[in-house]
Amino acid sequence: MIRLTALTLAMASAVGAAPLVKETLATGLRDPMEVAIAPDGDFYVVEREGRVLRINPNTGGIFVIGQIAVEALRSADPKSNYAREDGLLGIALDPDFAKNQRLFLFYSAPDVLACRLSRFTLKDGKIDPASELKLLEIPTERTNRVCHLGGSVEFGPDGLLYVSIGDNTNPFESAGVAPIDNRDGRTEWDAQRTAGNTNDLRGKIIRIKPTETGYEIPPGNLFPKGTEGTRPEIYVMGCRNPFRISIDPKTKSLYWGEVGPDARDAGDKGPRGHDEVNQAKAAGNFGWPFVIADNKPYPIVDFATKKPGKMTDPAAPENPGQRNTGLKTLPPAHPALIWYPYGKSEEFPAMGEGGRNAMAGPVFYYDPSKKYNILGKEDNRTLLTYEWMRGKIFKAKLDAQEKVEKLEVFMEKLVHPMDLEMDKDGSLVLLEYGSGWYFNVNGSVSRLRPDDGNKPPTLTIKPAAPNTYSVDKAADPEGGKLTVTWYLTEGVTERKLGTGSTVTVPEGSFEEIRAVATDDKGALAIARIPLAGDGELPSLVLELGKTKGKPGFGDALNYKVKAERLPDAGQIKVRARYIPPTGHDSGGPELSPEAAKLATANQCMACHQVDSGTVGPSYLDVAIRYSDRADASAYLKETLKTGGVGVWGDVPMPAQVALKPEDSDKLIAAILGLSAGMTETRGSLNGNIRLSPDFGAEPGGAWEISAEAPGYAPARTRIPAK
Ligand code: HEC
Repeated sequence: MIRLTALTLAMASAVGAAPLVKETLATGLRDPMEVAIAPDGDFYVVEREGRVLRINPNTGGIFVIGQIAVEALRSADPKSNYAREDGLLGIALDPDFAKNQRLFLFYSAPDVLACRLSRFTLKDGKIDPASELKLLEIPTERTNRVCHLGGSVEFGPDGLLYVSIGDNTNPFESAGVAPIDNRDGRTEWDAQRTAGNTNDLRGKIIRIKPTETGYEIPPGNLFPKGTEGTRPEIYVMGCRNPFRISIDPKTKSLYWGEVGPDARDAGDKGPRGHDEVNQAKAAGNFGWPFVIADNKPYPIVDFATKKPGKMTDPAAPENPGQRNTGLKTLPPAHPALIWYPYGKSEEFPAMGEGGRNAMAGPVFYYDPSKKYNILGKEDNRTLLTYEWMRGKIFKAKLDAQEKVEKLEVFMEKLVHPMDLEMDKDGSLVLLEYGSGWYFNVNGSVSRLRPDDGNKPPTLTIKPAAPNTYSVDKAADPEGGKLTVTWYLTEGVTERKLGTGSTVTVPEGSFEEIRAVATDDKGALAIARIPLAGDGELPSLVLELGKTKGKPGFGDALNYKVKAERLPDAGQIKVRARYIPPTGHDSGGPELSPEAAKLATANQCMACHQVDSGTVGPSYLDVAIRYSDRADASAYLKETLKTGGVGVWGDVPMPAQVALKPEDSDKLIAAILGLSAGMTETRGSLNGNIRLSPDFGAEPGGAWEISAEAPGYAPARTRIPAK
């Protein structure tokens, strides 16, 4: 059955037509994780580091309605390996939200080693911390580079609450196959204790019925209440990192994307790694860490001898783990609905190739009574899935039995799509996470609606005089009339200032001024200027020693770093950069537009930035590190081909299989070129920095000296060069 479907799919890989129009409603979000739509149309968004936002989609107003204390990786400590994927992960609104103002959050508790599902109630538009009702705490590990927290929270049409929870396991030391390390002391490397354990809520999607004071177990979960060695909350088990979930409003089928392991090829220790999109029509076991993809089994590897042992039987998988506190023989494993590796997928070619991060979105039903239908009548019952890494939305047409009939790309070039919800009017609400892995300030929320020929207008605004703002540019592609309305954000509310091309801000303290341009058909564009910064970082001060005349290429320069409260000397990074007199200077080294495009197209920017470290090292750091190494280019090209680990930290870079050799050449040349004119010294609050040797640049420019430390605003100063 599965095979037949796969054959039909091989023929249908073209990009679908039906373009959608994207209206960006909110920008500047910081690692937004999940969005929920309220009955009044407002969006509620959670951010990884703990903020809860309400967004008014009609005015673009963004209101911080809560700050949940969470354990999360912070920008002040970017290289920490503690709790790397923790944070405020999921949100759902009570089905009766309009009346009871209750919402459910899933987050990493800072006070105990656990993920917590809590209910909060809004009071005067804000989350009332005193209203917290803790429903469930799931003990979790945070050291030894464990990953996979899941964290999606959704209500089904039946009022039941579903929560996805990851396997909380370190995936980096099991050769990209099953992390089932059974040796003593290897707790964090053993998913038999979590995803494969019927008595643990990790690596599961749970399903509960919230009550006034807690929750009840609904009928139909995987194990009847009272079954020894099981948890009654479990609806689906055998998940690795079930990231974003969605429930079909008609059939109640549960969908989720499952981020899979890294093995490039099959070997004696297991099949190659696949991501999955799964469908559960009823409670079940979806296999991890014993089975993957279309029920490809893993052998039970002995991590002491490195030898594969007994092969798993997908019809009756066994969990032999010493940390398994649940059943030995597990329910039969279900195959995935869609599965794909890093390389090309034979079964689902439309998925393309490259990095993977599967997510599942809503099911589309054609409904002429709705304002919008994002697909046609012939697409009735189409599952939308999306890919965080590949930046795409896919449409999987389902037949009457909910099997995949056809899979096509629906939309491309999105910036890490993180959540996708269907609004009441039939449009889609899309959350984009931002361009990096962490610490984004460019997350956004948009509305996707069918292209009815009316394009959204464009709008920019600018400060015109003290307390006065005006339209910079506003245009309607159809040449129609635009109305510009101004708003001020004031705490959790907004104030309408009026319409027109210029506006004066009254006395008071406001977070933001915003203008909304609307055309005669209601399409809109939003522009914003922040009026207040929040929580400024302490500054570093840089003092430079006197030199005899202007310093030139190759000279040494003495520096001292000061601050009101000094940072740890070990964290100090001082840099000197030569800026030619006529040279283009954009404030820092930059990739050429062509190289930047290549890096984005090849998903490099998910893990790298030019000048700040995220998952991988900054490109500038790479360039500086190898500036003296003759074979740098050949070495780095080989690293991209094979993947790398241990040079910059213990997070690995997967092999860049989809990268063409000529693009690899261009990218490495561009990266290494970033260090021209740059030098660096680290780890000392005062000392000397050697300026760049002559690299063929015109003399007589300037030296820019900078000092940085995590948690501090950097210091930057320029002096004339010889
Ligand atoms: C999934 C995350 C991820 C992606 C995608 C990724 N990298 Fe990396 N990259 C890393 C990590 C992590 C390291 C550090 C590895 C180490 O410590 O050895 C790294 C290291 C590097 C290095 C330095 C290697 C060394 O040995 O010093 C270069 C150059 C590099 N990446 C370039 C790229 C380019 C170009 C792309 C896109 C084609 C890319 N990376 C995509 C995560 C990633």
